[in-house]
Amino acid sequence: MTILKGKEFILRPLSLSDVPSFFEVMQDEETKRNLESVPTTLEEAKREIEGYLLQEKEKDSEYFSIDIDGRYAGNVVLQHQNWDPASNEGRVHLWIHPEFRKRGLATTALKEVVRYGLKKKFRCIFAQCKAMNKGVIKILLNVGFTRVKTFVNEAGVEKILWIIED
Ligand SMILES: CC(C)(COP(=O)(O)OP(=O)(O)OC[C@H]1O[C@@H](n2cnc3c(N)ncnc32)[C@H](O)[C@@H]1OP(=O)(O)O)[C@@H](O)C(=O)NCCC(=O)NCCS
Repeated sequence: MTILKGKEFILRPLSLSDVPSFFEVMQDEETKRNLESVPTTLEEAKREIEGYLLQEKEKDSEYFSIDIDGRYAGNVVLQHQNWDPASNEGRVHLWIHPEFRKRGLATTALKEVVRYGLKKKFRCIFAQCKAMNKGVIKILLNVGFTRVKTFVNEAGVEKILWIIED
């Protein structure tokens, strides 16, 4: 299991002990607006994390928990495109706990994970966000992602696809 170190945080493997804090993130209004779907009960949140842990074993996904002095501050997810462990194209997702937002954490944590991903595993890394998600658009540009296209998904949501290459 990979551990990455930033200046004021470590990125360590996700664990079941993160469930309560993860559920708090998923109950936040901004999170609900910006993600496609979120767990609505603690039990659902636990099942979702169990699914992520299985995905780590079977699909070589990496769910990094951002840890600040022992406190859970969010996740950065690095997985293979289409969950295909043979693919040399990656994909990232992230969410930050509301108590830790607006202090540059998403930007610096994503930078660390992208640097690791491009060095160790992938030729390029994709990200997707809703077209109205101003915060994450700024973050992706700051980290060095380039806009590939804007499109409307099956659910009728306008989204932007981004890429960063080695
Ligand atoms: C979006 C999110 C990841 C931002 O995390 P964060 O740690 O607060 O982001 P940062 O502090 O690194 O912000 C970087 C920049 O974006 C800006 N920003 C952050 N959130 C913003 C928002 N909601 N609206 C407008 N700008 C925002 C910051 O002001 C900062 O600007 P600066 O570079 O000019 O200083 C966090 O709000 C979150 O988890 N949201 C819900 C889940 C989500 O949207 N995930 C992404 C799905 S694709």
